[in-house]
Amino acid sequence: MSIFLERKCTWDDPGHYTLPMDHPIAIENIKRHVSPSKIYHEMFNEDERTEIWKSAFVDMGLPRYNRNGTVLIDSDLQQVYDRYKSKIDNCINNASDSPCIGGNYYITPQQYGVHNDTMRRVGYNRMLENIPLNHPQRKYTPGKVILIPLWTGTHFDEIDGGQLVLFKQREIGWAKVYNNKKETKNIASIYDIVTDYSALQFYDEYGNEIPKEKNLIPFDKELHKKYINSPYNRVEGLSIELVEDWVPGSAFVFDTVQLHYSNEGTKEKGYKTWNAKMGVFLLFLIELDDDLLIEWRKEQKL
Ligand SMILES: [Fe+2]
Repeated sequence: MSIFLERKCTWDDPGHYTLPMDHPIAIENIKRHVSPSKIYHEMFNEDERTEIWKSAFVDMGLPRYNRNGTVLIDSDLQQVYDRYKSKIDNCINNASDSPCIGGNYYITPQQYGVHNDTMRRVGYNRMLENIPLNHPQRKYTPGKVILIPLWTGTHFDEIDGGQLVLFKQREIGWAKVYNNKKETKNIASIYDIVTDYSALQFYDEYGNEIPKEKNLIPFDKELHKKYINSPYNRVEGLSIELVEDWVPGSAFVFDTVQLHYSNEGTKEKGYKTWNAKMGVFLLFLIELDDDLLIEWRKEQKL
């Protein structure tokens, strides 16, 4: 019998609590709360990882798949959080203040291109039909994500899940896949795809605006050679904040709005090192700061 039987949240719950990603008050709140990304090594042992990954399949999770074969399972992550609360609270400030836990499990046969983990505009607009903009529970913005690698499937003896690359750049807005100059063809995504970075407003890990002219600075050639499988121009203007091995048991903590990327395995080996990977990410919301909440309520005539 699984411990994860009682389902409380649905996958789209965060969208029922948040302001629109492009609202100036939301942008200001997110800017104030971003911070450097971190890795926590050996946070979940093998038994815990087994328990977590199997829980994806035991409740009323809503599975879907992308054209490239990625399976996404929107399962009950509240219970994962409740069970590992002490560990997660240790790495995310005020995680328990989040009114619900977003995120999903994923099983992927492919690396993930550059993207952020925020909300889709279309999905959000649909949720406004249930909970209108001026509903008093809408007083949050997305905060931190914790990404937990669960297992790596490979036919090699050595297990190498490659690396996760977290870029310095944060874009505060709707969920996007970043495909500068359309370098990667046939992207399978339900997210908006941006093909020109030059006009994007990026923020750094302290919430400072990064001047737009910096979006045109070529990516470090050595780092591209070492970590990135995507075409060189796709990472133009980006810089690496943190790169760490994608190892089951570790946990990455980063801003929802932070651009990130995973590769096909340690590049110097010269081949793809894994066939499939499973991970889960949990997304936590943060409440508006007091002054912003007052401003928001005034605007919404609450
Ligand atoms: Fe992601």
